[in-house]
Amino acid sequence: MTREFKIRQIGLTIQDFYQSKEVSSDLTETILYSVEAGGKRIRPLLLLELLEGFGLELTPAHFQVAAALEMIHTGSLIHDDLPAMDNDDYRRGRLTSHKKFGEDMAILAGDSLFLDPYGLVAMAELPSQVKVDLIAELSLAAGSFGMVAGQVLDMQGEGRKLTIDQLQTIHANKTGKLLAYPFVAAGIIAQASQSVLGKLRQAGELLGLAFQVRDDILDVTASFEQIGKTPQKDLAAEKSTYPALLGLDGARTFFDETLEQAKNLLEQLETESDFSAEEIQKIIESLRLDG
Ligand code: IPE
Ligand code: IPE
Ligand code: MG
Ligand code: MG
Ligand code: MG
Repeated sequence: MTREFKIRQIGLTIQDFYQSKEVSSDLTETILYSVEAGGKRIRPLLLLELLEGFGLELTPAHFQVAAALEMIHTGSLIHDDLPAMDNDDYRRGRLTSHKKFGEDMAILAGDSLFLDPYGLVAMAELPSQVKVDLIAELSLAAGSFGMVAGQVLDMQGEGRKLTIDQLQTIHANKTGKLLAYPFVAAGIIAQASQSVLGKLRQAGELLGLAFQVRDDILDVTASFEQIGKTPQKDLAAEKSTYPALLGLDGARTFFDETLEQAKNLLEQLETESDFSAEEIQKIIESLRLDG
């Protein structure tokens, strides 16, 4: 199955879910506006590639779990852009949700994108215990023990000089845990051993940390066309970032080192279990900055 096919299928799975029944067409329109704006779909893609790496043949249920993850991520972006948070006008190359539909609708679309995924996973054709574990891990990654808590720490860090440890805690929670979710979820679905699951989680968390450092670097160095959102926002908001703390070169070095650590762990997994990391390594390589 090609990557393009997977990306298309992730979008279709989300559309199908919302169009299968409807109470408010305005709500559906607001949700799908942000979903259909695209984005890299790295989280759901990682999940699908990891599942194939474990030798599984992809089913609609796998796409539903992937879609659920992308829905929570998209909701997090809608809320992250709100005036009370990062106050951004553009996202994924389009006006942000609140600019297009108003703050009330943007808040509610985010609410839906946080709540609906649990039902979607619950209804997927997978063994019950697998679904319970997937739902528990998704909640841990997204809520008060993951992304939302990280967003709180990120907001509270504005205008303050944080230590590298404090910054790492912010990144690990606001971004790291949702990016680690595909690794954990793949292990759960493939019914991997606890030891394999532990290594998967660790590799995912390292990649998640690297991913936010990359985002912080791109905020400084990239153009609107490259990232589809207004660059140089972090400095204006006095955010604590790796470039702010370590300088651009220091942040780049840290990014490369963290990617290497994730890659090494995946290599170890290949020798210890029946798992091929080839496609995942390609995705990781595609994140490298300036060659
Ligand atoms: C942006 O995530 C926010 C972060 C957690 C760094 P992505 O860079 O994955 O955004 P999209 O999905 O491609 O728009
Ligand atoms: C966002 O971090 C992390 C989320 C949980 C959405 P940023 O605020 O740096 O993400 P961008 O740069 O707006 O995409
Ligand atoms: Mg933010
Ligand atoms: Mg932001
Ligand atoms: Mg950013």
